[in-house]
Amino acid sequence: MTPRPVKISAVGTHVPERIVTNDELSLTLDTSDEWISTRSGIRERRIAADGEAASDLGAIAAARALEAASVRPKDLDLIIVASLSPDMLFPPTASFISGRIGADGTPAFDLSAACTGFIYALATGSSFIASGQAEKVLVVGAEVVSKMIDWTDRGTAVLFGDGAGAVVLEVAESSDEGILGFDLGNDPSGAGLLKLPAGGSREPATIETVESRRHSIRMNGGEVFKFATRIIVSSCREVLVQQGCRIEDVDLFVPHQANIRIIDTAARKLGIAPEKVFSNLERYGNTSCASIPLCLDEAAAAGKIGQGELVLMVGFGAGLSWGSCLVRTGGLKRIEE
Ligand code: COA
Repeated sequence: MTPRPVKISAVGTHVPERIVTNDELSLTLDTSDEWISTRSGIRERRIAADGEAASDLGAIAAARALEAASVRPKDLDLIIVASLSPDMLFPPTASFISGRIGADGTPAFDLSAACTGFIYALATGSSFIASGQAEKVLVVGAEVVSKMIDWTDRGTAVLFGDGAGAVVLEVAESSDEGILGFDLGNDPSGAGLLKLPAGGSREPATIETVESRRHSIRMNGGEVFKFATRIIVSSCREVLVQQGCRIEDVDLFVPHQANIRIIDTAARKLGIAPEKVFSNLERYGNTSCASIPLCLDEAAAAGKIGQGELVLMVGFGAGLSWGSCLVRTGGLKRIEE
């Protein structure tokens, strides 16, 4: 059977109300606005309220994407939620989101691939449509990373933020439009470089794991930085070659938003013009699985995702994992605020 073409028809997002600036972080951490903004490009981030979980943000983003796509929740064939900060280890956050949007009966599962999760979820969802097993798929990236942070660790606390983004995948009208291809990968030798050590079956929760803050993100920032700048370049080249495209053909580059220096270095090595690089990191920090859909929404609002344009997205993160995706867009629907 010939695979069916798949398009990303609509996007929706939601971020928590509370804005935390670098200056505010400097009140409790040995850091400064100058250090954070020059080393990472981040100026502020959104932080969820007490009791606010990933599904609370994800359900709002999902409802907005569905409204923009004019798709009823009951018409969905599949819901995939990518998150490294799920509401609970189980049931899946996808189940909570499904309940909130009124998609009872629809298969719903979580996908764990750290910050690459959104791209992996896109690949999974689009495969269901391409193979004829689904007509309409909802892919959500929902994160409340702030609840996974050791707020005394300045090496990680300043980098992350909370937010959610969702897209609707549907059958594309023609094979010239839609998702062209993916490059996905994982390097298990780097699994120790970025992790949340305790709370799973390897290190179940004990008083000691709590006291030693092993329920928070641990990261070797320098090594992750080197990996990211290398893998963005090789993965993007791979997906471009696979599709017979050149870097000059790309109209919009949407990288995972982890650090502006990672983005700038990779873009320079790739040879992509700075005006084609999208970034909103300054206002959100690293929102993990939400970062790419948050960019897609803002890019669409700014009129940067027009009919026939070539969009290159790339994610990377713990695993160490990576994924890039090339899309020939037919436009991207969103609800005007
Ligand atoms: N404020 C002030 N100083 C800080 C700081 C902060 N928030 N965080 C670290 N420092 C200090 C370090 O302790 C170190 O001090 P020392 O030289 O006295 O030991 C110094 O700044 C330099 O640290 P270094 O780690 O070399 O800084 P860097 O320029 O490499 O930037 C990161 C650190 C974390 C911003 C950078 O490595 C990075 O972004 N890595 C990738 C992280 C990432 O993207 N992770 C998610 C992937 S999905």
